[in-house]
Amino acid sequence: SHARLVVDPAFVVGEVDPRLYGSFVEHLGRCVYGGIYEPEHPTADEHGFRGDVADLVTGMGVPILRYPGGNFVSGYRWEDGIGPRESRPTRLNLPWKSIESNAVGTDEFCTWSRRVGSEPMLAVNLGTRGADAAARLVEYCNHPGGTYWSDLRRKNGAPDPHAVKVWCLGNEMDGPWQVGHKTADEYGRLAAQAAQAMRLVDPDIELVACGSSGGRMPTFPEWDATTLEHCYEHVDYISLHSYYQERKGDRASFLACTTDMDRYIDAVVATADYVRAKGRHTKRVNLSLDEWNVWYSQETTVEREWERAPRLIEDQYNLVDAVVVGNMLISLLRHADRVRIACLAQLVNAIGAIRAEPGGPAWPQTTFHPFALTSRYGRGVVLQPVITSPTYETAWFGEVPVLDAVAVRDDGSVTVFAVNRDQHETLPLTVDLRAVPRLRRAAHTYIGGADPLAANTEDEPGRVVPRTGANLAVDAGELAIALPPLSWNMIRIS
Ligand code: AHR
Repeated sequence: SHARLVVDPAFVVGEVDPRLYGSFVEHLGRCVYGGIYEPEHPTADEHGFRGDVADLVTGMGVPILRYPGGNFVSGYRWEDGIGPRESRPTRLNLPWKSIESNAVGTDEFCTWSRRVGSEPMLAVNLGTRGADAAARLVEYCNHPGGTYWSDLRRKNGAPDPHAVKVWCLGNEMDGPWQVGHKTADEYGRLAAQAAQAMRLVDPDIELVACGSSGGRMPTFPEWDATTLEHCYEHVDYISLHSYYQERKGDRASFLACTTDMDRYIDAVVATADYVRAKGRHTKRVNLSLDEWNVWYSQETTVEREWERAPRLIEDQYNLVDAVVVGNMLISLLRHADRVRIACLAQLVNAIGAIRAEPGGPAWPQTTFHPFALTSRYGRGVVLQPVITSPTYETAWFGEVPVLDAVAVRDDGSVTVFAVNRDQHETLPLTVDLRAVPRLRRAAHTYIGGADPLAANTEDEPGRVVPRTGANLAVDAGELAIALPPLSWNMIRIS
């Protein structure tokens, strides 16, 4: 069987917002402490941040980084993390049953994120706190000076404002596990109040309301609709979170999990547009998919002691996971008209694209590679291809296409991102480029290989890396290519 993909510059989905390639740093396990920050590490800079990890983050291409949570933020007092380190209090990190030293806080994070080429995206605590603490944090970060909080920032070593543009109004407030969990009415009102106060401090900020924490939450999509009915005019985005895993050995379904992700995104778009119609609003609320990834481990808090930076949810990703992460990026791109921000959760160690050992090396997980390549080359205008593909049966979704793909056009060139979900067979693909002028040759890069369980480890950090395929020529407006079994592919056509 054979697949075909027609690329036409007329079928525009939308411009890629670079913030689609964001990631997430939470005070969770060893993401901050022992991840980005380890003053004793041989590569640490004068601020205590690891140089090897920073280099990997820069190479990954992450234009925006969400911080400091996640579940952590819902019990966080941001004031604990500013000022001289020796006077910062040691606290309990409740959701992750850890000891929090507060050695890293808002100032350190904002400065570090700019150094690695990212803009910070901060979340405020709407679990145990409210509009006042949120507005003060905006003032601390963004007000130039001459007021108590802005002058305190200056005194703490940041004369210029951090200029934080995007702010999350809490985290997963629909989840019963969330500290300060609320009903949609309670949260929607609070989000509106916090948003109003924060925007009075800085009218240029963008605000993200918490939608549901997952498409399988019993309160989805009612939560999202009710929340937005309270705060629609105050916010720019509604959040959604999406995690997948292979269940009970059903790899065929796992490889097609973007079927579910596509539906979930479509449902949130529909819900936001329903509230728009109901409230007679004119503006559109877009989507911030500010947590997404493959995630296996489930942590329990009960059997552990309170510890500093415990090893939590340190999933080791394999080749299959890399293909799925690449496919999730394809799903994000095809929704580029409405999904404007997305954050791979998370950056380091805790379900991280990067792993780091204390005093030892840091290396890219398998999932790092499709992310880095899509971030680098998936810029420009997304085109919706017309796809003809063989199909296969899955337990979860019924019949699904073997090929999933999207195209991105930048200047004269076209980049196709494509996944072959067939675990055993090569997929011959014809890319029809007759509608795109002056394309002559193509370079093929892919992530594949014989062992689906191959992973990158401390001893073998380069087991799963991008491979170079054949150089190909466009012939009479068509490109013929073979996609290896179980592979993620990038085809750059110029
Ligand atoms: O990313 C890990 C956790 O997943 C986050 O803290 C939370 O928001 C979500 O449930």
